[in-house]
Amino acid sequence: MKMTDFRKDFPLIANSKIAYLDSGATAQKPFAVLECMKNFYEKTNANPHRGVYKLSVDATNEYVAARQTVADFIGARSMDEIVFTKNATESLNLLAYSYGLDNISEGDEIILSIMEHHSNLVPWQMVAKKKHATLKYLYINKNCQIDESELEKITNKTKIVSITALSNVLGTKVDLDKIIKKAHAVGAKVIIDACQAVAHMPINVSDIDADFAVFSGHKIYAPLGIGVLYGKKELLEKMSPFMFGGDMIEYVYENDTTFAPVPTKFEAGTQNVAGAVGLAAAIKYLQNIGYEKICKHEQQLLEYAITNLKKLPYIDLYCTDELEKMAGVISFNMKGVHPHDVSSLLDGEGVCVRSGNHCAQPLLRFMGLDSTCRASISIYSNKDDIDKLIEALKKIYEKFKKYIG
Ligand code: ALA
Repeated sequence: MKMTDFRKDFPLIANSKIAYLDSGATAQKPFAVLECMKNFYEKTNANPHRGVYKLSVDATNEYVAARQTVADFIGARSMDEIVFTKNATESLNLLAYSYGLDNISEGDEIILSIMEHHSNLVPWQMVAKKKHATLKYLYINKNCQIDESELEKITNKTKIVSITALSNVLGTKVDLDKIIKKAHAVGAKVIIDACQAVAHMPINVSDIDADFAVFSGHKIYAPLGIGVLYGKKELLEKMSPFMFGGDMIEYVYENDTTFAPVPTKFEAGTQNVAGAVGLAAAIKYLQNIGYEKICKHEQQLLEYAITNLKKLPYIDLYCTDELEKMAGVISFNMKGVHPHDVSSLLDGEGVCVRSGNHCAQPLLRFMGLDSTCRASISIYSNKDDIDKLIEALKKIYEKFKKYIG
């Protein structure tokens, strides 16, 4: 299998022998990002929007340029539609508090998929409880996909559809187009959780006509602590601020305040400028490679991993059998062995995978599972990583087989 080697770009990967198969939790960072952040702190660090001196203006310019890079990356119409947050969880909480609480009333319905990460589920439970609204779920079929008939749950009562573009447990790609069209036909707003998706496939918010979209930087090779909320400008403008304090204001009086225009209205306090600069560098790194190459590399690897995992009769796989409808992550269990034991023993063999419920307890419960092991891949993953995983699983099975029966 001929594959481009991106490993040399990532110091932690290039200098280590581990098979890092947990990029779905957080991806490693390339030199390009690390250098860019170092450069920012060494040459440009100051508080943006605060000083009129050159250094502060330079920091402001870098922050603004980062916002434009994000806007271009996801196809937003204007950089005013990009709010920097600390991660996708904060972006979703912002939406739940600032959009949900003001736009959901008693009897309304909020639609999620059963594949949602807790970050796109618990905030909506809060809104539903406070507003006496109902949460409804689009369930998956045995092939880990949402049947079109599930979309009948989107009705005139639906006010918000908040859905992942790619399951962090099953790797299922969701057919966003149909869901968004159906939701808009009944006047509902659609929020896309692009957290897992954006590392593996292009997301163009204008093309798909998403009302809102969120993602975290750290899963796309950017630093921890920087996230994005995209929102259509006319919607963001109507929303109340989420956090209050410095910079998000226009005029402050003793008993009242007017707020800054979007997106600053949603960015209270000193922001993670180095994070934004690092995110822009990560996006440029991704763009230089291009999604075509990324998808090809990762799909080849996914296919290789699944083909080889299927050869192990003691491994249960949890994914669709249509490989073109999945990306990024593979969940599996070794029959009769707890996933935490498997992942801990894999660690002993130099293989890092996540085990547990992957912050998706309702999905696992729906599937009759408590937890799984999850191997997730990225552009620096290679065939050796998968071979190490398979060999280690064989070794673990040899240890356990007398107990498994
Ligand atoms: N959301 C991250 C994951 O799925 C942490 O692992």
